Amino acid sequence: MVHVAVLASGRGSNLDALLKAQAEGRLGPARVQVVVSDRKDARAMAIAFQHGIETVHVDPKGLTREAFDTRVLRELEARGIQLVVLAGYMRLLSPVLVRAYRDRIINIHPALLPSFPGLNAQRQALDWGARVTGATTHFVDEQVDHGPIILQSAIAVLPTDTEDTLADRILETEQRLLPATVRLAAEGRLSVEGRRVTIQGGYAPPTAPLLVPEVIP
Ligand code: GRF
Repeated sequence: MVHVAVLASGRGSNLDALLKAQAEGRLGPARVQVVVSDRKDARAMAIAFQHGIETVHVDPKGLTREAFDTRVLRELEARGIQLVVLAGYMRLLSPVLVRAYRDRIINIHPALLPSFPGLNAQRQALDWGARVTGATTHFVDEQVDHGPIILQSAIAVLPTDTEDTLADRILETEQRLLPATVRLAAEGRLSVEGRRVTIQGGYAPPTAPLLVPEVIP
């Protein structure tokens, strides 16, 4: 069993996907033990509660980023957490957490990194006029949305897309990517060398047709 903590600040749909995957036996040896949030009223906390998962609120008020992360770290260590998943976690991690859990913190980002890091990735893709975007899971390092890439999914940006429709289609892929990534990590099948992550054992790259546009005569 691999003890997992999920850090979340918002809606919690990725957390929900993880907990459903766990209930259906699709998370391998990973077991979500606790959900930690900087926001007491985050919907993610209610989702954790519904699934019978322990919730911990750490109040960031008046704390430096390091002091806050030290408190979070204490909660993780007290529960023997081995793997940390950021699922809609809106805080930048300080080196306190990154160093303690080097190559053991996974983030999901709604773009094909290194394109469109940071906030509003879907808006950025639209504004840039990108034709393709997607989602990325990666290990967390000291820089924002920067660590070694684990898995990616791609979707086409449609001429009719709004930020919302694009976000919805990306989210659909996120909810498949994140459980698959957590499973690989929990099974010990990911090794990191520099920027490159090697996946041991069976891994099927996407088999869908190439995303090549057709020009209509
Ligand atoms: C997701 O798009 C995730 O990639 C990003 O924030 C969003 C969180 O959604 N980091 P949810 O809270 O999991 O529903």
